[in-house]
Amino acid sequence: MNPFDITDRVAVVTGGYGVIGSVLGRGLAAAGVRVAVLGRRSDAANAEAEAIRASGADALALVADATDMDQLRAAREEVLSAWGRVDILINAAGGNVSRARSDTISVFEIPPDAFDEVLRLNLHGTVLPTMAFAEQMAKQGRGPSGRISPMAAVRALSGVMGYSVAKAGIDNFTRWLATDMARRHGDAVRINAIAPGFFITTQNRNVLVAGDGGHTDRARKILSQTPMGRFGRPEELVGAVHWLCSDAASFVTGAVIPIDGGFSVFSGV
Ligand SMILES: NC(=O)c1ccc[n+]([C@@H]2O[C@H](COP(=O)([O-])OP(=O)(O)OC[C@H]3O[C@@H](n4cnc5c(N)ncnc54)[C@H](OP(=O)(O)O)[C@@H]3O)[C@@H](O)[C@H]2O)c1
Repeated sequence: MNPFDITDRVAVVTGGYGVIGSVLGRGLAAAGVRVAVLGRRSDAANAEAEAIRASGADALALVADATDMDQLRAAREEVLSAWGRVDILINAAGGNVSRARSDTISVFEIPPDAFDEVLRLNLHGTVLPTMAFAEQMAKQGRGPSGRISPMAAVRALSGVMGYSVAKAGIDNFTRWLATDMARRHGDAVRINAIAPGFFITTQNRNVLVAGDGGHTDRARKILSQTPMGRFGRPEELVGAVHWLCSDAASFVTGAVIPIDGGFSVFSGV
């Protein structure tokens, strides 16, 4: 038996047509996983599912807002009627909300509703899908079991207070739910996170890439604090996620795995 074999498992990927969600979904599909691409836009979710099917894997599109429990439960029923089970949830929906940033204003001027929006997208947008799909994993019990990997950020980054608060909440939620699930269900439902460093994607391109295609000041600061001296490539997240979703990680729960070229361990000196 190959402990890394995840063939035929069923994964739901929220933000499944975003840059990181798409790479993770396609990475799992290449390993034989059936992938449900969950997102708010039907055209984009269908296009991503079609691209996965074109590679020879099984995929379906689920239209739901990651912050709407009724829509998430309906999406769960769709997966169950198609494939009968859910083994893996990847929470990749999220991102910054420009109105909630304080790069050019004081933190005291952030509109309260912008703070609500960034918190809702990143924190509720991870907790609610987890509630909807982990409930099914807990019901399934032993056998191919559930793994959930929310993204998390643990260090203070200037300008993005709400985003940081939300990601810190996800970090705590990972540890909290991992403990609860392990006490109730042993190794059947494991909860882990990856903490990506900096990857140039849709959500941050405008703050990292200057008009002339070069790096912004912020990008240069990030690179100077990243011992490997470069941004990550989304494909570099796939290996850790595959491992977390496989039986090779059967005793791993509550872990937050940094994938960041050394950013989180560098003192800056
Ligand atoms: N890029 C990085 O350096 C980095 C580093 C650490 C962590 N992360 C985290 O990784 C995750 C993915 O980021 P990314 O870089 O791949 O960004 P991205 O390309 O912008 O993808 C984000 C995805 O989330 C979806 N989404 C937003 N609001 C949603 C909602 N309410 N319901 C369902 N889906 C929603 C977006 O869909 P729509 O297009 O329909 O809005 C999009 O597909 C985010 O949580 C981000 O914070 C990124």
